[in-house]
Amino acid sequence: MKIDIISVVPDLLQSPFAHSIMKRAKDKGLLEVNVINLREYTTYARAQVDDYQFGGGAGMVMMVEPLVNAIESLQKKTTYDEIIFLTPDGETFNQKTANHLSLKKNLLLICGHYKGIDQRVRDHFITKEISIGDYVLSGGELAAAVLVDAIGRLIPGVLNDETSALTDSFQDNLLAPPVYTRPEEFRGWKVPEILLSGNHAKIDQWRQEQAHKRTQEKRPDLLEE
Ligand code: ADE
Repeated sequence: MKIDIISVVPDLLQSPFAHSIMKRAKDKGLLEVNVINLREYTTYARAQVDDYQFGGGAGMVMMVEPLVNAIESLQKKTTYDEIIFLTPDGETFNQKTANHLSLKKNLLLICGHYKGIDQRVRDHFITKEISIGDYVLSGGELAAAVLVDAIGRLIPGVLNDETSALTDSFQDNLLAPPVYTRPEEFRGWKVPEILLSGNHAKIDQWRQEQAHKRTQEKRPDLLEE
């Protein structure tokens, strides 16, 4: 999968994909992430990419021309399955959307800043608008990093143990059950006996029950869906 990201702060997106699972995905050739600096696509003086909003009011707006230049230039090389704008007024990102997007070949993510982007870009180019939660970030970069991480780890072959994504929280609308590792006892706190039993059918059943219990306690809304 290839993910291109248009940003005015490309430095913000250097580190998130350089470690751990994202690095492994890139090293295995399963995920390519390119960060494109929007300022390289502006024809305005001093690499300007934003301007005052028509009608007045506080806050700058990202201009239509640099964004369209960047998008159209990228489209000459790549046909995108989705062009996604990260914005607090988009649909809320969840595991279902991550699963869906992990099956795509080419994605283009657009990070907003200031008051947002000129509506004409949204009207004519954006195919999906995504928010990572009901709060406002200072830009779309951290949201884009969240998307790439959540999507990237689902690409077949990225995780070593292919089954581990299936038992994550939110797959099946359930939270993940509790997990334990060595030692078996610490300060008198014991690991549940069942996990040491070697009886895998019983262990699976226990995990299912715990997942239901945890979801009921913490996120009953998931069980209603
Ligand atoms: N940009 C600013 N806030 C955001 C959010 N919550 N989700 C996605 N993009 C954003």
